[in-house]
Amino acid sequence: NSKGFIFDLDGVIVDTAKYHFLAWKKLAETIGVTFTETENEQLKGVSRVRSLEKILEWGNKTLDQDTFMELMARKNNDYLAYINTMNTSEILPDVTRVLLFLKEQNQRIALGSASKNARAILKKVALFSNFEAIVDGTNVTKAKPNPEVFLKAAQQLGINAEKCIVFEDSVAGIQAANTAGMISIGIGNKEILSEATYVFKNFTEMSNEFLLELIVLSNE
Ligand code: G6P
Ligand code: MG
Repeated sequence: NSKGFIFDLDGVIVDTAKYHFLAWKKLAETIGVTFTETENEQLKGVSRVRSLEKILEWGNKTLDQDTFMELMARKNNDYLAYINTMNTSEILPDVTRVLLFLKEQNQRIALGSASKNARAILKKVALFSNFEAIVDGTNVTKAKPNPEVFLKAAQQLGINAEKCIVFEDSVAGIQAANTAGMISIGIGNKEILSEATYVFKNFTEMSNEFLLELIVLSNE
């Protein structure tokens, strides 16, 4: 009688968008491309390669393959320097309450993230052991909105897709969950995440009663 609860990482469990922002901004500026919060918003849920491609498109720039790879590595080094300073204080409000409640209800918990740094980040915030299955950017070939990451997570849990619930803060991630045939729960802005089955501003707005309803609902 267990459901699969699949969590995105960046923007759902931790607010790493601010570190991605600082690292991409520094890189964009070195190649003469303007980079603000508006651009950063459009990189949420987007893979590292695709993010750099988008920045180049915005600035009308092209790079040879070697420089492209070098810039990606540079961005990630800067990003990792921020990640290394992370600790449990960076877990977003009520994430731990939700994880513990689901576990107490014998639900199955997985991570489904585009990030290749997901495992390192989960360790930094001491949540690694809360996930029974972890599927991240090192385990998939197709980026969200392709459902691969969530289908793999469901498979690793041994739970059918229609019995899975996904928590996501990006449009691409909500689309991936919907395409996978899962219940999608947006964490963030209702207007931006309008394709989600449900949307909450953050986990503090999500009651244990609601979680219990999901456990029953996705049973039918
Ligand atoms: C998440 C973030 C994106 C990031 C992507 C890849 O989806 O929301 O902003 O670009 O992961 O992360 P990585 O750590 O592999 O560069
Ligand atoms: Mg995210």
